[in-house]
Amino acid sequence: MRRQAILCLLLQLIFELSSCTRLRVTPGSTLELPCLSFQSDFAAEEISWKFNGEDLSVGIQSHGSVSIKQNGLVLSISPVTAANEGGYECLIKESNMELVRVYNITVDAPIAYAIKVTEGTSIRLPCYLQPSTQAEANALWFRVTGAGGKTQLSLEEDSAEDFQRMEQLYPNDPDQTIIIRNVGMKDTGTYQCESTAGEKLSTVDIIVVSPPTSPPFTCSTDAWEPCQDENSRTGGPMLQESVTEFSMKLFSYLREIYPNTNLLFSPVSIDGALSHLLLGARDDTRRAIQQALCVSHDFYCVHFQMKKLREKLSDSLQMASQIFYSPQMNLSESFNNQSIEFYEAKPMKLLETNEQNTAMINSWVANKTKSKITHLVDSVSPLTQLILLNAVSFNGQWKVKFRSRKGLFQKLDGDLVPVSLLFHSKYPLKMGYVAELKAQVAKFALTGKSSLYIILPRTYKPTDLQQVEDKMTDVAVYQMIEEMERTEVQHVEVSLPKVKLDVQPDMNILLKKLGLSSLYEGANLCGLYSEDRLVLDEAKHRAYFELNEQGVEAGAATSLSFSRSFPTFSAMRPFILLLWSDQANVPLFVGRVTEP
Ligand SMILES: *[C@@H]1O[C@H](CO)[C@@H](O)[C@H](O)[C@H]1NC(C)=O
Ligand SMILES: *[C@@H]1O[C@H](CO)[C@@H](O)[C@H](O)[C@H]1NC(C)=O
Ligand SMILES: *[C@@H]1O[C@H](CO)[C@@H](O)[C@H](O)[C@H]1NC(C)=O
Ligand SMILES: *[C@@H]1O[C@H](CO)[C@@H](O)[C@H](O)[C@H]1NC(C)=O
Repeated sequence: MRRQAILCLLLQLIFELSSCTRLRVTPGSTLELPCLSFQSDFAAEEISWKFNGEDLSVGIQSHGSVSIKQNGLVLSISPVTAANEGGYECLIKESNMELVRVYNITVDAPIAYAIKVTEGTSIRLPCYLQPSTQAEANALWFRVTGAGGKTQLSLEEDSAEDFQRMEQLYPNDPDQTIIIRNVGMKDTGTYQCESTAGEKLSTVDIIVVSPPTSPPFTCSTDAWEPCQDENSRTGGPMLQESVTEFSMKLFSYLREIYPNTNLLFSPVSIDGALSHLLLGARDDTRRAIQQALCVSHDFYCVHFQMKKLREKLSDSLQMASQIFYSPQMNLSESFNNQSIEFYEAKPMKLLETNEQNTAMINSWVANKTKSKITHLVDSVSPLTQLILLNAVSFNGQWKVKFRSRKGLFQKLDGDLVPVSLLFHSKYPLKMGYVAELKAQVAKFALTGKSSLYIILPRTYKPTDLQQVEDKMTDVAVYQMIEEMERTEVQHVEVSLPKVKLDVQPDMNILLKKLGLSSLYEGANLCGLYSEDRLVLDEAKHRAYFELNEQGVEAGAATSLSFSRSFPTFSAMRPFILLLWSDQANVPLFVGRVTEP
């Protein structure tokens, strides 16, 4: 029986010898090494232990933190320290054989942390005692002073200080983490946590960094590049094309937002405001606005050409710009000069109160729109730094007057509603079917070298309106205008509903769709103001359009149908309108009437 047990033991021993047991332990922990892997009744005399080849006498119970228990069957180390690292060998002697068990113990280095901390904040320095050890005494914290020296941190309350800067967070707990408050540059260094027995438990390297400052805002305050060739014959057409492309892009965005209500906006006014802003924009903001306006990055003459466009339009449309700015702001002098030169706008300081500023802005708008719009802004926040305004006022009279009548307008849902209409039995106009748009188009001449185009889908139905609008790109619009140019004037019976539109499309969504959301996050307007980025808070647009017996005051339209006997144009169902400057060849107002 006994011989059998020995044999069994021997087999296991051979296995264990071939692979000595390797263990990694953390400092401060307790380690128990059994000599046999099973219960046994060997006598103490038969067992001996060696540490790195040196005998550990079994008779003496304790060798520092090492003790031998259970008659030599178990070697216990508590707490483990770096000094315990090495090979442990247990030897059992029998009359005719020896059994050896070998352990190779590696003690981990104390846990090391590197912590980066911002100056002025608090930092926690972690240190943990083994949960098994009853924390009768708190660990000790030291600051390493270099050359192997160290000074103990004072974690006790210090009445001299307003608050305790360094503190043991959980006294008498295995968690011996401390906190250092209001960290300063001087706190950079290495800290050590040790048990009272001198065991290193953790090392913390603190690196104190300055609080993050946003990268310094650098500014190019140079004036806008001069227009080298003011007499260039391509400058004017370039601006016209970009204004028209921009206009139709705006129309397509607004259609998405407002699929079937009345719609109206003035692309030249929005373009004028953004161009004025462009004058002061630099870098990323400048590129974003140029892209939104469909203006190439090296078209330096854009502002000069805007001025020429404004002059060209002045027979029918008056455009005005203005900038109000906070008295705390230092506006760039070159911007001030160029704003006057190109936009006839001498920047003016904001007044003191919200009420004063709101009244000042709304009265400026009322004045420049000839009282067609008397209210644009509801309030002016005291935080406002800059307000850029653009206003246009249009007045075009019919070349031939209409008579008033009553009639029925068919809405998108097919319902007929009674409306006042403008009627003429033999009105001279250019009219035709434009295949590119799949629509009937009529061109009404107005005074001041401008025209009102009414684009009438096939029926009142939403799908037909949508189909025409889908086709209305800048290219198609130019084609339509050329085609109508070649058409002969006819005398037709005309019915147009009287229209009065007052629409405020959401400019905030519009600007985001134009790729200008960065304006809401911070615009680089260095050409204008160099101290910081400026953030756009709100954008507004309001357009008014009245079609009456006299003509058009800033705006919109009717539909066309053919009769065998004599041609007629009856815009008594939903239609699209385009108020066009024949002089400058750009759209002034674009709109849609679904309910007059
Ligand atoms: C224990 O392991 C270490 C590292 O693997 C080795 O250097 C050392 O010689 C081993 N000691 C014994 C007694 O096997
Ligand atoms: C505004 O500009 C003047 C003259 O360049 C300068 O003295 C002043 O400090 C500036 N103000 C601010 C708020 O930067
Ligand atoms: C702005 O215009 C004024 C008056 O014409 C002139 O004296 C000044 O030098 C100009 N400043 C800049 C930066 O162009
Ligand atoms: C606009 O202001 C100017 C200058 O103050 C004034 O002469 C003009 O009458 C005003 N126009 C309207 C419509 O209020």
